[in-house]
Amino acid sequence: MKLAVVGGGSTYTPELIDGFARLRHELPVSRITLVDPDERRLALVAAMSARMLARAGHPATVHTATTVEDGAAGADAVLLQLRVGGQAARGVDETLPLECGCVGQETTGAGGLAKALRTVPVVLDIAARVAEVAPYAWIVDFTNPVGIVTRALLDAGHRAIGLCNVAIGFQRRFAAALGVDPGRVSLGHVGLNHLTWERAVYLDGADVLPRLLAEHGESVARDIGLPVELIRRLGVVPSYYLRYFYEHDAVVAEQRAGASRAEQVAHLEESLLAMYADPAVDTKPELLERRGGAFYSEAAVALVASLAGDRGDTQVVNVRNGGTLPFLPPDAVIEVPARVGAAGAVPLPVAPVPPLYAGLIAHVSAYEDLALDAALRGGADRVADALLAHPLIGQATVAAQLARRLVEANRPFLPWA
Ligand code: G6P
Ligand code: MN
Ligand code: MN
Repeated sequence: MKLAVVGGGSTYTPELIDGFARLRHELPVSRITLVDPDERRLALVAAMSARMLARAGHPATVHTATTVEDGAAGADAVLLQLRVGGQAARGVDETLPLECGCVGQETTGAGGLAKALRTVPVVLDIAARVAEVAPYAWIVDFTNPVGIVTRALLDAGHRAIGLCNVAIGFQRRFAAALGVDPGRVSLGHVGLNHLTWERAVYLDGADVLPRLLAEHGESVARDIGLPVELIRRLGVVPSYYLRYFYEHDAVVAEQRAGASRAEQVAHLEESLLAMYADPAVDTKPELLERRGGAFYSEAAVALVASLAGDRGDTQVVNVRNGGTLPFLPPDAVIEVPARVGAAGAVPLPVAPVPPLYAGLIAHVSAYEDLALDAALRGGADRVADALLAHPLIGQATVAAQLARRLVEANRPFLPWA
């Protein structure tokens, strides 16, 4: 099987390679092409990847390309993991909203909108090129904001599925707490990308979430940064992205006092690239665990293996809603468990969602709709409308001010500005 990784020069790539090496029996990869416009990073990361595979005795070969046409030709699956504007643009997403009293985050709130504006046109251009050279390839999108980007890809007619590591992270985390193999644990996961709740945790098909919250509530609460009383009262586990909503003002205060995640990651990346440049390093550095992407390689391997092998198993992915969540339009993209086979991912039925969650999901889904419209058609008014519709912004003066400043700061990345 041939895979292409767009954004292959990312410091995350060795995480992916590590997964391919460990899970070779699940996914027989023969050829991996890393695609990236940054030739220096591409060469470094490709050499590191080749050493890792050699060390693991994996037969796959590693190739590089600076254009999508070259890199994706003949691929069975194309993974998108790019970051338009790098950590510098992310730094703006994380700091500019703080000046208006709003959370600074790369996928949630105003920062997520800025990222969508920069990213959607680039990803659509890449996907169109993929369609030229690999018309039957699946596009697996890790590129954030995953919900909006996946919706853009599907609307444009691409064979795309959006993927995130939050669900697999919980599955692994809960399995460890229960002391069982992760394969026995599945999730009642519902919502939108980076706006999800675990409403059930099934061990061999039986819901053990109440026991998990009783026995491990404190440590789960600590992981997601929310009060244990809250999760015990609700009887659900929100993802840590819900902290930006449920503890918004506290997060703003923390963010104002500390360094941005972009700044921390930029430093981590410098150290990681220095390690990748060392010919003696041929295993995934422990330092990579300080990035947020734990288990994303395992999610990617499982998804591609089920698409290619028509396995028909259940995985949490980003797909069209259809009629799954009746309070959303059918063309919205949601993140839920789906049956995955050669024809793609089909969402499984979801139990009725109580208003406490359905309200926020509907609110953010409407924002995503407007955000995509702003990304596709441009214009400061569309940007302001999306911000006005976002539950974490919502005030006219703030929306207008943020719209103006975000457009100004991102002008080099906006085809219409
Ligand atoms: C999690 C999210 C990803 C996000 C990453 C950021 O894995 O699910 O969507 O890209 O965190 O990690 P970073 O190390 O860049 O902060
Ligand atoms: Mn994610
Ligand atoms: Mn530095």
